Amino acid sequence: MSSALPRPHGTPERPAPRTTAIRTDLAFDHGAVSRFNAWFFSTFRGYLNHAARHHKQSAFGGIEADTVLEIGAGTGANLGYLRPGTRLYAVEPSLRMHRRLERACEAAGVEAVVLPTGAEAIPLPDAGVDEVICSLVLCTVDDPGKVLAEIRRVLRPGGRFRFVEHVAAPGRGVRYAVQRFIRRPWGYVFEGCDPGRHTLEAVARAGFSEVRTERRKLRDSLFWPVNTAVWGVAVR
Ligand SMILES: C[S@@+](CC[C@H](N)C(=O)[O-])C[C@H]1O[C@@H](n2cnc3c(N)ncnc32)[C@H](O)[C@@H]1O
Repeated sequence: MSSALPRPHGTPERPAPRTTAIRTDLAFDHGAVSRFNAWFFSTFRGYLNHAARHHKQSAFGGIEADTVLEIGAGTGANLGYLRPGTRLYAVEPSLRMHRRLERACEAAGVEAVVLPTGAEAIPLPDAGVDEVICSLVLCTVDDPGKVLAEIRRVLRPGGRFRFVEHVAAPGRGVRYAVQRFIRRPWGYVFEGCDPGRHTLEAVARAGFSEVRTERRKLRDSLFWPVNTAVWGVAVR
């Protein structure tokens, strides 16, 4: 493993964990819809990152770990928050995302291990990683409780789970009604994404020792139904 930057004082290097058996049955390829999603998240990466810049800087700023696990890495939206030389375990079940993700990792100088599976069964041992990150993923997985339990399992004690997600609009107002109304077509186009999920409540139930979060609308985003967003850092 290489690291282009000096190690921060006092952080001993830990060997990267070995991957365990991969549940490839959790990987998917929905043909045209998966191709569309790979194109969409690659094409709009700059725009979405700009709209979520406050959230991402707050959640992902200052990651120093040599090894990072990303859940639902997509086409590499968060690589700018990793130091060149980082080893990234990228759990990504959509096979259509992989080529773009690998190319983006190469361009960013990040050593990627792309894992073609879902986060319901992360192929890493218990307590092996310091940092887990994800953006716009807990809205999409079938069972957020199960995924959060897996994230907690692979984090070492004191390790951090950093996330940026869109969530259900507070209260029962117009935006929440729209989120409910468009759920099926939106979920079809974005491969399972629920525009109005109560993600913070799921994180709060997941057994982390400490959770810091902020609800804040995305600014400058055209995607009005999912502008109600949060960032958070949860400590195992
Ligand atoms: C809305 S996209 C976000 C992609 C990327 N994180 C970003 O911010 O651009 C949701 C991502 O979650 C992935 N995903 C879907 N189900 C998943 C699961 N069970 N486990 C892990 N990732 C999943 C999708 O394949 C997709 O890459």
